[in-house]
Amino acid sequence: MSEQTINHPISIAPMLKWTDLHHRYLMRLISSRALLYTEMITTGALIHGERERYLAYNSEEHPVSMQLGGSDPEQLAFCSKLIEQHGYDELNLNLGCPSDRVQSGQFGACLMLDHQRVKACIEAMIESVDIPVTAKIRIGVDEHDSYEHLHAFTSMLVEAGCKTIIVHARKAWLSGLSPKENREVPPLDYPTVYRLKRDFPTTLFVLNGGIETFEQIEQQYEHVDGVMVGRAAYHNPYLLAQADQKLYGETTPVKSRHQIALEYCNYIEHQCSKGVRLNKLSRHILGLFQGEKGAKRFRRLISENAHKDSYGPELIYKALYFTCGEQAA
Ligand SMILES: Cc1cc2nc3c(=O)[nH]c(=O)nc-3n(C[C@H](O)[C@H](O)[C@H](O)COP(=O)(O)O)c2cc1C
Repeated sequence: MSEQTINHPISIAPMLKWTDLHHRYLMRLISSRALLYTEMITTGALIHGERERYLAYNSEEHPVSMQLGGSDPEQLAFCSKLIEQHGYDELNLNLGCPSDRVQSGQFGACLMLDHQRVKACIEAMIESVDIPVTAKIRIGVDEHDSYEHLHAFTSMLVEAGCKTIIVHARKAWLSGLSPKENREVPPLDYPTVYRLKRDFPTTLFVLNGGIETFEQIEQQYEHVDGVMVGRAAYHNPYLLAQADQKLYGETTPVKSRHQIALEYCNYIEHQCSKGVRLNKLSRHILGLFQGEKGAKRFRRLISENAHKDSYGPELIYKALYFTCGEQAA
């Protein structure tokens, strides 16, 4: 039965179609310590789909957490065991995704309106594994956006045994807004997350939503236990370059962008030799040089050519050469 609590000051958010195993490998090259999340995988996909493909990850990725989408306690318990057996370090239940597809499967954010079901789900997951079971929630759903509702939902999660709660600090509208709009339109409300931490001091709270700079990350530790970064870490992965040193006290030197790119090139070569298409790998490094001289050229060269059969890993070396000069070749 899950008992553990692990405090991760920084984590990379689960992002469908973005945080695949290649992206997580890249992020691990940048921070050896940040907690990495998989994309959301539904219980249905794990039970009826290409299970081994969904569960696959690189051994270098630890610590890595799998996010599950589902609402059937038995199925969640079954999938939780599979995930633990595959060596994942943590298990997370998605209670914050508002997409139509997710709602029709009765999971994600709409579950924030069904406390009893969520309690049964979390209890079943915790009962079936020893790794930590965490939940990712919103601060409200539709008109159910009072602090009292959020407090009651959080109480239920804590009572069910959840020791870490990730809070995307904006509410979700279940209809009328696309998932993308639901990440932008409802206003961010960090003080509500801080209030939760004050009201449930022994539970770990991870704040998520709208964090764009390392300074913003550091400011949050006064109020919460951890920070989860999504889009900013995807578009500008070097954002986390100092995470090991500043947040975990590591004494290793901060890697340069160029060093990270070369290490990822080794990975690309290895993956391409196993038949993975170059553009599936290269798309994750398009933002590595964001803000640097040559960044646009780097991005353009790769995005315009990586899908062509005539190109292999040498395209990335070429782009690096044009970006960083001869040191990169
Ligand atoms: C492309 C994309 C896919 C996402 N997929 C998921 C998902 O599978 N599960 C989930 O809980 N949140 C998902 N999210 C939401 C993020 O995890 C995060 O909560 C949100 O982007 C807010 O954080 P940010 O402002 O740091 O990006 C996704 C976000 C994006 C941009």
